[in-house]
Amino acid sequence: MNYIVEIRNLKKTFGNIVAVDDLSLNISKGTIFGILGPNGAGKTTTISTILGIEKQTSGKIIVNGLDNLKYPEKVKQIIGFMAQETIVDDELTGKQNLILGANLYHLPKDQIKDKVEYALKQSQLEKFADVKSKNYSGGMKRRLYLVKSMIHEPLLLILDEPTTGLDIQNRMQMWDDIRKLKKDGVTIIMTTQYLEEADYLCDTIAIIDHGKIKAIGSPSELKKQISSGNILEIILKNEYIEQITKLLKSEFNIPVSNFKNEKIEAIIEKNAFEIFQKILSEIKKKKIPILSISLRLPTMDDVFIKLTGSSIRDTNTKPDASKSNKFAYTR
Ligand SMILES: Nc1ncnc2c1ncn2[C@@H]1O[C@H](COP(=O)(O)OP(=O)(O)OP(=O)(O)O)[C@@H](O)[C@H]1O
Ligand SMILES: [Mg+2]
Repeated sequence: MNYIVEIRNLKKTFGNIVAVDDLSLNISKGTIFGILGPNGAGKTTTISTILGIEKQTSGKIIVNGLDNLKYPEKVKQIIGFMAQETIVDDELTGKQNLILGANLYHLPKDQIKDKVEYALKQSQLEKFADVKSKNYSGGMKRRLYLVKSMIHEPLLLILDEPTTGLDIQNRMQMWDDIRKLKKDGVTIIMTTQYLEEADYLCDTIAIIDHGKIKAIGSPSELKKQISSGNILEIILKNEYIEQITKLLKSEFNIPVSNFKNEKIEAIIEKNAFEIFQKILSEIKKKKIPILSISLRLPTMDDVFIKLTGSSIRDTNTKPDASKSNKFAYTR
């Protein structure tokens, strides 16, 4: 059995809302599988049904060979879960939180001490073991929550937006932790709103929108799906955007694929370098005052825009992600 999770025609509705719509996918053992999508795409609902927190309306979910509806308790033991919001008890110390987690997973009493010590070491929280977690920073709480989710050494770890709201240092620490877990043989399913995070961490990415899979593949496969060519980027004052757009279309048959404030992007499928030089000389000839022009390879941002039609903004809509980086997106 190569797959740790097999999902067949999964559907989940809440009244009239179709949160997950006929979704099928397989997740290979030992990989990091990313579920990428905007707010309300159905990411949390998909993982909630795998976990059995929500019962699917229809469809089949097999976790490590077990049907999730027939063997809900066994499935729960296989999975570690970190929810979208950090769930640690503020009034308990780090150590007490871990003991609580160990008991929730019914770990044998004689194993708890060792497991808790190991978890504190892994999370570099040994020095803070006896400090109430309300005094922890956001990053420390997340690390505590991560090792608490792993206390029963599950085969599969599900992380719902593990880095949303973290600053860049803590985000990178979380990335390291996730990669270490993969090295140890844990399969990871993670949802994220950060395109560069999915690109960096995931072996396979499913882009979902309105509960449906828009595309699935490795980051490089997804980028190739967009274009085997290059992306032309021109930065210029808004008043010249129309002129450039017309020039690209009429002289080079290149449609602008994306534009936002003072920037346009267009895909050049073939002979990008040659065409780039021609475009440059046309711009000079027509004396259009551009601020910069460049060619680059496609990124996950380009993939996302093409597949979902969503715009990428400089801020995330989520209140806890006020310091989110420029790759966050929203509808
Ligand atoms: N318990 C619920 N009752 C009613 N509607 C729900 C419930 N849970 C989710 N939904 C709806 O289902 C859709 C998918 O929501 P879901 O939380 O799965 O999205 P998401 O991709 O995780 O979004 P976010 O990035 O905001 O976390 C949304 O329209 C949401 O409002
Ligand atoms: Mg969610």
